Amino acid sequence: MPLGPAVRTRLGRLEIPAADAYRSLFLNLDDCAAVLASAFPAKRILEVGCGDGSAAQRLLERYPDAEYTGIDVSAEPGRLFRGDAARARFAGIDSTSFRATEPEPFDLVVVVDVIHHVPPEHRDAVLADVRALTAPGGHYAIKEWEPTRGPVHLACHLADRYITGDRISHVTPAAMKARLADELVLEARIPPHRNNYLLGYRRT
Ligand SMILES: C[S@@+](CC[C@H](N)C(=O)[O-])C[C@H]1O[C@@H](n2cnc3c(N)ncnc32)[C@H](O)[C@@H]1O
Repeated sequence: MPLGPAVRTRLGRLEIPAADAYRSLFLNLDDCAAVLASAFPAKRILEVGCGDGSAAQRLLERYPDAEYTGIDVSAEPGRLFRGDAARARFAGIDSTSFRATEPEPFDLVVVVDVIHHVPPEHRDAVLADVRALTAPGGHYAIKEWEPTRGPVHLACHLADRYITGDRISHVTPAAMKARLADELVLEARIPPHRNNYLLGYRRT
């Protein structure tokens, strides 16, 4: 078992505060949700790669009128979600299978710290799913970590690699933009590190 799940299962009630504290070392999820909400109005939100539901909770706080769907290939998506359950649903399904269910397209599709976990040969397919699941005129947003030289990136890379156990590989903003053909309408950096970049696209 990778280090992260092995430690987490022993934390009990401390798991949520510990997960929040760990995440905040690298990304301020509240700021990420605030930037999204200030740029993209939405009533129906999809998160691809929702993980334990940490981003979901922040998104629903910033979008008080929205309904949220989170999908993930992990065993228990949304396991740590403690937000408004009436407006959130989680499903253990990958983006291609979910797309095949032909859901009504979403106003906003968000992908937070997922692409570097996806094997490089599958990334274009996931991004194509994200685009297809976004309503025409709606938006999708990709938040990733820019690889740089220095201790901050090294710490993030090693933590991600050995805590999740995934063979991650980070993508530069330029390489990410080269994969996406829609209109880029938002480019932001999210605290606490400039490595956190957010690209927002309007689906044409
Ligand atoms: C670092 S977590 C991010 C979770 C969440 N977005 C957040 O910010 O809290 C990355 C997640 O991506 C998921 N993931 C990786 N490949 C995926 C894929 N092809 N489809 C859906 N989820 C995927 C993993 O299972 C993991 O839960």
